[in-house]
Order: sequence, then structure tokens, then C-alpha cells
Amino acid sequence: MLFTVDAEGYSIEIGSLLDGSFDSLMIDNYSESKKIIVVDENTNEFCLDYLITNFDCLKEAEVIMIPAGEENKLLDICAQVWLTWDEYKITRSDVVVNLGGGMITDIGGFMASLYMRGIDFINIPTSLLSMVDASVGGKTGVDHGGIKNLIGVFSNPKAVFIDPLFLSTLPEGEFYSGFAEMLKHGLIVSPTHWYELSALNDVQQEINERHIYSSIVIKNEIVHQDPFEKDERKKLNFGHTIGHALESYFLEKDPISHGYAVILGVLCESFISFKRNYITMDEFSEIERVIVKHYQLIDLSSEDYTEIIRYMKSDKKNRNNKIFGVLLIGIGEAIINKEYTTNEITDAFDYLNRVYSELNN
Ligand SMILES: NC(=O)c1ccc[n+]([C@@H]2O[C@H](COP(=O)([O-])OP(=O)(O)OC[C@H]3O[C@@H](n4cnc5c(N)ncnc54)[C@H](O)[C@@H]3O)[C@@H](O)[C@H]2O)c1
Repeated sequence: MLFTVDAEGYSIEIGSLLDGSFDSLMIDNYSESKKIIVVDENTNEFCLDYLITNFDCLKEAEVIMIPAGEENKLLDICAQVWLTWDEYKITRSDVVVNLGGGMITDIGGFMASLYMRGIDFINIPTSLLSMVDASVGGKTGVDHGGIKNLIGVFSNPKAVFIDPLFLSTLPEGEFYSGFAEMLKHGLIVSPTHWYELSALNDVQQEINERHIYSSIVIKNEIVHQDPFEKDERKKLNFGHTIGHALESYFLEKDPISHGYAVILGVLCESFISFKRNYITMDEFSEIERVIVKHYQLIDLSSEDYTEIIRYMKSDKKNRNNKIFGVLLIGIGEAIINKEYTTNEITDAFDYLNRVYSELNN
């Protein structure tokens, strides 16, 4: 069965690539074009064969392989790839197919959007996180100076094709990284989605196309209301004020996945919401129960606290040394532009450490 979502100027298909419109899109629009497939080492190994074997239109495609990992989502890599595209004599009528996780859809979309002031690109996300989040919504970009997504452009793909088959080779930790963003979607706007996901036990086995579809519908609806993140879209940043700072901080030491950083941020920002009486004890306990069921927590030192807060203050979304974020006012309801004090963040980290000790001693 195929699910389809209409996004701003492009469509998102969820279901087997073989049943969908990928082939006809390529034949109708790009039969004379050069095709470039952007992969990383892992999607080169696990996903590329499937695509090339099943679609004749890609038999002659040039494959660009980028080293895997967030630490490679960099302008230097783009500069090297652009030189290769020069050698291939890529023109504006050619097309880039991004086959990978969020790192590849972010950097691949960014490279395509800037090259010759923009060539078409299509996303085929292969991680759960890129399926439900990164490949949808038009944000492309790279990290710079140690700051996540500092350089980027809003630019929509021509289409997104989501085939859950690719999830079969995704490592477990990466799977839960994507699940974190799905839980977040439920918490910010949809109690139904939250309760459906929170009832899953063996998430990897039980998750299905309909869950993925529901998450995409939520993200797409928010992006539709506010494509350039003036207000409503900021809700998607729930968990990210603290999450991004954790991700940036650990990137230099011992990288943690985007979704894992986000779920720790979700827990801390839910704690702040609870402490402000925005959500009840029962609501907070329910959030804690689900997160602790699926995720190992982390033990932070006071040195870590200082550095992570420093990252928050330098986040591009913040200003005047103040830290702003999104808080919950219920399960399925969020409120934007809330300032967090350093004390509140420190208390949330203390809480994280307390739960970590209780669970590990
Ligand atoms: N643009 C947006 O709106 C948006 C939203 C959320 C996250 N992001 C970005 O997405 C990135 C995180 O995405 P991610 O978690 O997918 O990271 P990722 O792309 O680094 O993928 C995680 C790991 O899984 C591997 N992988 C991917 N698909 C695989 C498969 N099918 N089989 C085996 N291995 C596979 C990758 O090679 C990588 O090692 C971050 O850069 C984040 O900033 C962007």
C-alpha cells in the first residue's frame, strides 16, 4: 500500500519504491539528464545496489560517496563534490538523488541547491530519522565552526520517496534516533500519535508505514503553516535547544546521534515544563516512563554543564546570551519562545543525573 502526502510543491510517497512513481518521475522529467546519486559509506554498501538494480534509469548514474557521520557535514566536503560535478559537466537540467540518512539529505540538498544556483534533487531517505524528519520540510545545510546547521538554505526537493525496506539494515541505535523525533511529533501536537507510539514495545518490529506516515503528516502540516520558521514551525524544535547543544558538545568528544541528543533534550525540556507547572506530574511521569523504557540516559559532570550551556547561548536561534526554547503545556500541546534560565537547565541536568544513578546503581 502507498501513502502519499502533498507537501509545498512536491509530493512524499511512503511505500515500496517499486510500486510508486519514482521510475515514471525519472523517465518523464530526467530521461536526458545526467543523474548523480549521493550516498555515504553505509548507504553505498546497504542501499545503492537495490536502487541501481531495480531502476534502469539509474544504470549510468554517477555515484558520489561521502564519508559517513555528522562530522563530515561540512563545507569542505561540498567544495570537493562541486569540483567533481564540474568534471562531470553537470548542468542545471541534471538531477541529484540523495540516498541516505539526514546527513546525506541535508548536505546533498544543500549542494544541489547552491550548485549553478540550484539543480533539482530528490530525496530517498534510508534512516528512520531522515524518513520522518530530515528529508521533509525544505531545510538543507551543513555544520560550520562546530555549530550545527549554521550554513544552509531552505530548498525543497522535487519529490521524496520513503521505502521502509531500507530500515532493515539500519543499526538499532540509529533506529531509536528516528523514533525520538516521532515521539516528539506526538508530544508537540498529537496525543493520538504519542499514545500509539508509547504503546509499542518492540519498536523495531512493530513500527509500520502508517506510523511513519502519521509523523510525516504532522511535520508537513506544521511546515505548511510556517515554511520559514517564523512561529508555528519552532514547535518542531522541542527538545532541540538542549538536544542540539548536547549533540554539538559531544561531537568533539564522543559523538552521539541527533535523535538520541534530542530525546535527552525532550526529557529535560519536559522537566522544565513540569517544574513550571505547565504539565502535570502524571503527564511528566508518562513522558519519563516512555523515554526511560527505550533509551539509556547519560551522566553529566558539572564541567559538561558549563560547556553545554555555552553551546546553547551560541545557538543561532538564541540572542543576547539568552536561551529560548519550546515547552509543553500538555501531551500534544507546545508553546514557543520561552526563555530558559541557567538554573532551570542546571536543575534539568541534575534531574537527568539522578534518574541515571537510580537506574544504574
Ligand atoms: N533538514 C531537517 O529538517 C533535519 C531535521 C532533523 C535532522 N536533520 C539532520 O539529520 C542528521 C541526522 O540524520 P540521521 O540520524 O539519519 O544521520 P545519518 O545520516 O548520519 O545516519 C545515521 C547513520 O546511519 C547510517 N545509515 C543510514 N541509512 C542506513 C541504512 N538503511 N542501513 C544502514 N545504515 C544506514 C548512516 O550511514 C549513518 O552512519 C543531522 O545532520 C541532523 O542535523 C535535519
